[in-house]
Order: sequence, then structure tokens, then C-alpha cells
Amino acid sequence: MATCELAPGVYSVGALDWSMHDFHGFEAPSGVTYNSYLIVDEKIALIDAVKSPFVDELLGNIASLIDPAKIDYVVANHAEPDHSSGLPAVMKAAPKAQLICTKKCRMAFDNYYGEDWPYQTVKTGDTISLGKHTVQFLATPMVHWPDSMMTYLPNEKILFSMDAFGQHIATSERFDHQLPLGLVMEEARRYYANIIMPLGAMVLKTLDAASALDIATIAPAHGVIWQKHIGAILESYRKWASLKSDPKVVVVYDSMWGSTELMARAIIDGVAKSGAIGRLVHLRRDGQTKAAAEMLEAAALAVGSSTMHKRPMPEVAGFLSYVHSLAPVSPGKNDPRGKGRMGLAFGSHGWSGGGAKWVEQELSQVGYQLSQDVICCVYRPDQSTLEQCRQAGAELGKKACELANE
Ligand code: FEO
Repeated sequence: MATCELAPGVYSVGALDWSMHDFHGFEAPSGVTYNSYLIVDEKIALIDAVKSPFVDELLGNIASLIDPAKIDYVVANHAEPDHSSGLPAVMKAAPKAQLICTKKCRMAFDNYYGEDWPYQTVKTGDTISLGKHTVQFLATPMVHWPDSMMTYLPNEKILFSMDAFGQHIATSERFDHQLPLGLVMEEARRYYANIIMPLGAMVLKTLDAASALDIATIAPAHGVIWQKHIGAILESYRKWASLKSDPKVVVVYDSMWGSTELMARAIIDGVAKSGAIGRLVHLRRDGQTKAAAEMLEAAALAVGSSTMHKRPMPEVAGFLSYVHSLAPVSPGKNDPRGKGRMGLAFGSHGWSGGGAKWVEQELSQVGYQLSQDVICCVYRPDQSTLEQCRQAGAELGKKACELANE
């Protein structure tokens, strides 16, 4: 990725991975970026490294601007290897650099790399002067890991936000105004749903802390840099983290011989009649990353599966485990976010059944309030069962509209 200047003396120097389409299970059809930033002042600071296969590209980009051996500070906002696995090579190329990170990040690095690097650990409010620029640190635990922090450059109003506000997208464009907003927001939504969603309560704390900062640029560790649409991405993050729902029903399913698919299509027909937004996701064809992104703002989720060996089909079982970990429904009591969400289970079987019932139990355990008993059919849904599915879809859509409007 070519370098570019965000502000006088502040450069983007990271790397693009055009061919990475599976980011530890996240389906990234548009590729991945590992952003890294260089601040050139009386002192020189590098903000974050990259994944190790791309460290030569990073060092080459830095060398096109300054001698990497002149770097005084390497700021590591986060320990996850997509940003830190290039650190050993960076620290070798920058032998006089101090490594700036949180205490928890240092613990992670001790375990990952076991190197005796010259650390300086920092906490919220700590600053380092580079000359004209001063960098300021903001600990953001669990956005995305316990070690995470953001780095703020007050005189240029740049927030280096690490994973937050990122998108998994490889493009030669570096700024949000260079791409259609819909495309960037859709990638930000996929990213939030699949990586940040379970951390919403901590995201809200981070947004509150960030609201005290004057921000003209959000420079995330993945994807394009936000300048034109900062208001839109901050507002979206607040909505997503608050678990606010749209009047939307997502029907997610897998089907062995097409019977559960007929039921899913009948349910989505009913949803359409209710006026709610409906989305149909075939898990094996469309993937769980898309399903999670569709689920993010949906007031209702219907999940269907054929029965295979008394259980749901494997993709459905895996998806429900994933849904459990993403926590799309507020646990209530100590977490006032959201108004609850509705669920529905359905599916076909031949003789013993069990798959759809298992789905129903899982949805209930995640916290979805079931709109009615599981809908099952034997071998093939008849017209009466399909009408039952249409009515269930209409009812679910109506409840989704009511929840979204509360
Ligand atoms: Fe992009 Fe949590 O690492």
C-alpha cells in the first residue's frame, strides 16, 4: 500500500492483504488491511505494526520517508497478532525505540514473544511529547482485548482508534470520502457485528470517553480512514452498542432436501406482508459472517434446520454457538441496553426429529423471547404447514415493528 499523508508529518504506512478472505473465520470477500501510522517530528513514533508476512512492506514504506533506525517510539495499541506479529522485526529495525503499550499489552507480549524490549507502559491520560506533536493515550479495555488502547494526537485532532471503527476491506483508497458511504458503512457493520458486538457495554464507555475529544480524523487499524463521515460512524457505533433494533426479521436456515427451505421462504413471505424488513440467509451458501451482520440490528431472528442424526445440521449448530457468543440480546437486569428480541425455531425431519427443538432451546438460552412453539414438519411441508409458517412470519414481523418502535 502506498504511503499517504493524513496531516503534516503524519503518514499512513501500513499494508494491504488483497487475498485474505478468511480472517480467523470472518469471511472477508474484500480483503483485509493492516494499518500503521508514522508521526515524523523531532521524535519519531510508529503507531502499531502489521501482521508478520507484511512487515517488509511496512518497513519499506517507513524507509521511503525516514530511516527506520531513527524511530524513537513504537506505540502498540493492541496485542492481537494481526497488529503485533510484525513487532519483532520492527523492534530489530528500530533498535533505539521504546515500546509504548498498556500493562496488559506488555503481559500479552511477554507470552507471545518473550522479548526483553525497552517497554514504557502507559494508562489513560498519559502523554509523550514528540516536539510539535504530543501523543495522548486512552485505555479502552475489551475494545477489542483487555490490553487495547487508542492514541490521540490533539493538535491534528486524529484518533488512532485501533480495531474500533475498522472495516475488513482492501482498497487503494485510504479515506472514507473516496468510496461510496454505503459500501464503507456496510463493511463497518459486518466488522462490528462479527468482532465488536459482544463488547457493546465497553464500546459505550469508550464512546463516552471519546466524546470529550475534538476529533477530525479517526484512523483505525483496519480499512479506510474516517474524515467526512465521522458523525455517521460514531452514531452507528452508539446505536449498535446500545442494541437498538430495527423493524427487521432475519430468517437463517440450512436445509438438507429443501423442506426447511420451503418453510423459510414461507416465513419470509409472511414477514414481507407485516411491513417489517425481511432478510433470508442460507447458512451454507451465504455464510455466518453475513448472517451475523444481518442479525446485528434485527428485532427478530428465525432459525430453521432439517434434523440430522437427531440434531440440527452442523452449520446451524455452529451458527447458534456463534450467536450465543455475539450476545445480540441484552442480558437485562444489570445491562439495560436494548428492549429484548423475538425468536422463532422451525424445521423438517423424517422420523425422530430433534433438530428444530434443539434450535428452539438455543434461541431461548441466548435470550430471544419465542413468539410461538417450534414449527415442525415431517418430510415435506404441506399447504397447511406453509400457511402456518406465513402466519408465524407475519406475527414475528409485527412484533419486530412493535419492538423497534418502543
Ligand atoms: Fe485487529 Fe483485535 O485485532
